[in-house]
Amino acid sequence: MHSFTHHRHSSGGETPAKETKGLVVNSGWCYDLGEWFHDTFSFHGTFRTLRQRTINLAYLQPGETVLDVGCGTGTLALEAARRVGSTGRVAGVDPGTQQITRARAKAARRNISVEFQVGVIEQLPFPDQTFDVVFSTLMMHHLPAPLKRQGLAEIARALKPGGRLVIADFKHKQERAGLSARFHAGGSRTQELEDLLKEAGFDRVGTEELRPPRFSAFPGASIVRAYKC
Ligand SMILES: C[S@@+](CC[C@H](N)C(=O)[O-])C[C@H]1O[C@@H](n2cnc3c(N)ncnc32)[C@H](O)[C@@H]1O
Repeated sequence: MHSFTHHRHSSGGETPAKETKGLVVNSGWCYDLGEWFHDTFSFHGTFRTLRQRTINLAYLQPGETVLDVGCGTGTLALEAARRVGSTGRVAGVDPGTQQITRARAKAARRNISVEFQVGVIEQLPFPDQTFDVVFSTLMMHHLPAPLKRQGLAEIARALKPGGRLVIADFKHKQERAGLSARFHAGGSRTQELEDLLKEAGFDRVGTEELRPPRFSAFPGASIVRAYKC
């Protein structure tokens, strides 16, 4: 895989976390351990299902260019790299230096080429019209409202015309039903996300719901796909 032309920032080795009003996670391998624990014991595998459905919705093709914004420890980006193959390119950005360090270690261990770098959604370090597909999973609820707007405009800039954006996020607390409303405070209102996407220049906006399995603490999620006009 080739590497991307840098734009605005260079990635550097252990660059400090970028300044952002987003809620940065910086727990490295503990994040993966916590996710495994929750998915196994309280979400009944729904995290894994969420990632599979998110990546399937993009219909990735060999040779495509892909960005995962707020990539965390890189699980989704690594799967994307597998799907686009050696002629494709995948990048992941996150402001958490420990997340990026962990993502790079996972990529090296699996011998998969992904360009992971410290970065923020509000200033993506890529030229205009670089990507066929952009993903964002469980990240939008980490951003205050003005930053969501700014970030979506940045994604639109970095996507090629007709490019696909797939966003997965937990349901907003007020849109959840039953027990799951008590767990995990964060989440996005689906309608608000769809409206923001249209405002940022996306069309054909469609949403899939992922409901919590019975007796699971999973709060429910929406997976929204849209195309850049
Ligand atoms: C709940 S984690 C999800 C990580 C990963 N996408 C996943 O599905 O496991 C949310 C991520 O958003 C990142 N984040 C926070 N503010 C951000 C920003 N301004 N730009 C990009 N990512 C940001 C956090 O550092 C964190 O890694």
